[in-house]
Amino acid sequence: MKKNTSRRTFIADSAKATLAITAGLTAGGSLMEACAAPKHIIFSPFATGFIQEPLPYGYNALEKAIDTMTMEIHYTKHAGAYSANVQDAAKAEGVDMTRPLEEVLGKISKYSAKMRNNGGGHYNHELFWKSMTANSTEKPSGKLLLAIESSFNSFDAFKTQFTDAGKNRFGSGWAWLFLDGDKKLRIGSTPNQDNPLMDISEIKGMPVLGLDVWEHAYYLRYQNKRPDYIASWWKVVNWDFIQKRYDSFL
Ligand SMILES: [Fe+2]
Repeated sequence: MKKNTSRRTFIADSAKATLAITAGLTAGGSLMEACAAPKHIIFSPFATGFIQEPLPYGYNALEKAIDTMTMEIHYTKHAGAYSANVQDAAKAEGVDMTRPLEEVLGKISKYSAKMRNNGGGHYNHELFWKSMTANSTEKPSGKLLLAIESSFNSFDAFKTQFTDAGKNRFGSGWAWLFLDGDKKLRIGSTPNQDNPLMDISEIKGMPVLGLDVWEHAYYLRYQNKRPDYIASWWKVVNWDFIQKRYDSFL
């Protein structure tokens, strides 16, 4: 299914879900029963499917930060496996794969460890690839820049705090900029392939930007020097995409 079709379907389905929720409440259904999605999940055209999308650039496009071999192995082997495995889990656990993956992640405690690890892995990487570009502006603008400055005092202070979240994540995991349930920007990190969408996560919200700090993301070029990888990664952040994504959550 093409992306635009998928987005239209998601918006239409979300509208139907809203109608269903309203009908349920009118008919006397409880709020708990009617609200299928947790509060921190925001319906948006940036919904994620279960199939791996094509990489939006060549494996060598981000050489200034990430080497070609790392990109190829990371996309084809690691991320490819998460996508294949989450589809297997969805089939085994009766998940409707025409619905956004976000819905499953929001109630991941009801599913298997296979769904948690691979659903998170697939979602996180789909966002990660789109969050990078060879032509980075190296800084956002518009509403996102204003929100970052008001939340973290300055863009540089935000970068330092986000970098620390990535550097200090023990073992494998992700650093996040996310919107909490009150639509305030927050920074945090999650272990393994967890993310803030998950009901089991200590930090909850809509991921705006995520950084993969698993060793598979940087070890070939940077070995044990995760801080050097993060410092280079800022040069390839796709702020145009992140701004559009952020705006869609407001
Ligand atoms: Fe990864």
